[in-house]
Amino acid sequence: MKLSELLPHLLHSFSSESDLVRAIEEISHKFTKERESIGDYLNDPRLVSAYAAFYLTTNMPKLEAVTQWLNTEEREALKGFDLIDVGAGPGTFSLAWRELFGTKSAMIETSKLMREQAVKFYQGLYQEEALFKPELLGEKKILLFGHSLNEMGVEAGLEYIKKYNPEKIWLLEPGTKQSFALALSLRKKLIDLHWKVRFPCLSQGECPMSQTDDWCHQYLNVRHDPEVERLTQLASRDRRHLPMTVMMFERDYQQRETHGRIVRVFPQTKFSHEWQICFQRNNELQLVRVEVPFRQFSKSQIKAVAAFLSGHEIQFEVLKELQEKLRIALHFDLIE
Ligand SMILES: C[S@@+](CC[C@H](N)C(=O)[O-])C[C@H]1O[C@@H](n2cnc3c(N)ncnc32)[C@H](O)[C@@H]1O
Repeated sequence: MKLSELLPHLLHSFSSESDLVRAIEEISHKFTKERESIGDYLNDPRLVSAYAAFYLTTNMPKLEAVTQWLNTEEREALKGFDLIDVGAGPGTFSLAWRELFGTKSAMIETSKLMREQAVKFYQGLYQEEALFKPELLGEKKILLFGHSLNEMGVEAGLEYIKKYNPEKIWLLEPGTKQSFALALSLRKKLIDLHWKVRFPCLSQGECPMSQTDDWCHQYLNVRHDPEVERLTQLASRDRRHLPMTVMMFERDYQQRETHGRIVRVFPQTKFSHEWQICFQRNNELQLVRVEVPFRQFSKSQIKAVAAFLSGHEIQFEVLKELQEKLRIALHFDLIE
């Protein structure tokens, strides 16, 4: 989404670029340093507009990026789903959904100003009414929390899930320890309600990270329009390389317990990639360090594997059990 397309439809008009950058800095400070008064920005048209100009534009590409973790068939099937966008803000993921799949989306949003901003975007950009009633959506629905579970809490999130009965649930939260704790709590409650974890876990078992000081998160590399890129530079915020806590749940899913998920990428050695992966071993999910020798790859495979980030799913076989790690070979033809 181009910034210049959005600017005419903001609730507040900024007097200059530096005026907008100041408001972005203010809001970003609230997100990182003033968590106790985090809700304040929701009552100020200037900050809601700054949120829309900066976070809506830089969050939108995350939707397409996370679909890359699904297989081709699953991605294709998404076109048949409508979206329930919980904590929609100015419509970030509803607009992204519309751009990507063209199907409907209904927003749930408690802030009056955010709803007004979303209405203004739908009218200005598409000459359409913004939809706030999930009851009007089709049968197949994905319910998405986009950076909102950490504001509303797990119990409020669960109430929405029970009320709207979706087929899939997606959680896209910041890649922080605090968001991971929330995600784990939601995971446990959903498993108790017979949901299956589709991403990132490869079984329903207890998360091995839950017993550590570490937290499971993924990285997304996203590209922005040059105008948006300029804004991120002026505000000194890296919005290209994004740590995220992503979880996906499905009502019915056969887990791929023979696969592994990269959860950490260590610096490579002269001979191998070094990763920490999470996979089902001895009937439980385990975190294991692996080395992946380069010599097994063709030239093009080397390039592809070097681009793997935390979050990538692999199929592999163990070549050798070393003292503190496993040496593995990837089944390359099965990697999407
Ligand atoms: C950080 S914004 C995220 C906006 C958008 N989803 C995005 O990712 O850019 C979080 C939003 O959640 C909304 N929110 C907080 N608690 C809520 C609740 N209980 N029900 C609905 N929305 C809520 C806030 O008003 C705010 O607009």
